[in-house]
Amino acid sequence: MSGISRRGLFVAGAATAAATAAAAVGGSAQASAGSGVEAFHGTHQAGVATAPQAHAVFVAFDLLPGTDREALTRLLPLLTDDARRLTQGQPALADTEPELAAGPARLTVTFGFGPGLFKAAKAESPLRPLPAFETDKLDKRWNGGDLLAQICADDNLTVAHALRMIVKDARSFARVRWTQRGFRSSAGAPGVTQRNLMGQLDGTVNPTDLDKAVWITDGPEWLRGGTTLVFRRIRMNLETWDAADRVAREFTIGRRLDTGAPLTGRAEHDEPDFDRLNGFGFPVISEYAHIRRARTADPSLRILRRPYNYDEGISADGTSDSGLLFASYQADVERQFVPVQQRLAEGDLLNEWVTTIGSAVFAVPPGCTADGWIGDRLLS
Ligand code: HEM
Repeated sequence: MSGISRRGLFVAGAATAAATAAAAVGGSAQASAGSGVEAFHGTHQAGVATAPQAHAVFVAFDLLPGTDREALTRLLPLLTDDARRLTQGQPALADTEPELAAGPARLTVTFGFGPGLFKAAKAESPLRPLPAFETDKLDKRWNGGDLLAQICADDNLTVAHALRMIVKDARSFARVRWTQRGFRSSAGAPGVTQRNLMGQLDGTVNPTDLDKAVWITDGPEWLRGGTTLVFRRIRMNLETWDAADRVAREFTIGRRLDTGAPLTGRAEHDEPDFDRLNGFGFPVISEYAHIRRARTADPSLRILRRPYNYDEGISADGTSDSGLLFASYQADVERQFVPVQQRLAEGDLLNEWVTTIGSAVFAVPPGCTADGWIGDRLLS
């Protein structure tokens, strides 16, 4: 055995076995990252207050002409059942790839009702169309929708599988109008703000009291415990943003790129001082800085921003198709979202680099019980 002792072989074999075992442990550690489960039943639907997962797809459907109120009482229990099973790591009924359900990866499936669903159900819509904002350049490809499913998980394979099951089960009632995919950094890390594709920390200031700002407590009984979603596709012009230096970039938002601190502070969560003047007598945080224009005086009227980045690649001429899937949850669209968007449309330095190209509004019903389904209090 030319120079290699039996003992040497044994040691090498043991080392291989140990390495295999370590790999197996690594593998199971990975599996446990994918095995996180978010509760499905409850007062509210999951996916709003849930710590944002790494991946999302938003799918909007148009109801087919025959999908009336009675049809909706068949469709929504079916989709609720898919969501209930898949979020708990169980295959959907008639799941064609049941193995893909094994790693729920904190999957949430959140349903929203657009204006067309209320029309089909002959029910009064709690939604009003958004006003036309001067800066919008809406492309009908990304607008509207009768029914929305927001599917989020820490594993994109889980997201893809849930999307396919939901779309397959909706097929005889509805056709896909659009799908929009997004991702986030620092997924799930508590207290860590994600960065968007402009390099900014995005999500610092959000409401702290969701019972006041997000969940609906008055109005139609069926919607109590629910919320509303304003979903906007906002394209970033990263090519011209590249040409802005750091001073201009920080001036635009009113916060620093590295720490996310306001220009008048040191740490991300320091309160901005909007009255502070620089040596020339001008405000340190510009009158047109994004955070000044977007600020809501009453914190209980803040919107809950739960955005995802999108990046559809770079075309041959080097232009990127990137931006933000801006998801804003609030109890009242007119009182909370509209005034902020109005102020931004009227004057926000950021408008130079961002354009809203898609827009949709949905009522997000409350959660349901184990024997109920999403929308049951409206439709049954
Ligand atoms: C691509 C578009 C946008 C980008 C890149 C962007 C980026 C940012 C950044 C970097 C901040 C500061 C950190 C933070 O608090 O999260 C911020 C704050 C904020 N943004 Fe935006 N934003 C965009 C669009 C919008 C839109 C459309 C709205 C609402 C209509 C909005 C509302 C807000 C609000 C409410 C704040 C917190 C303001 C405060 O300090 O009170 N943003 N945004």
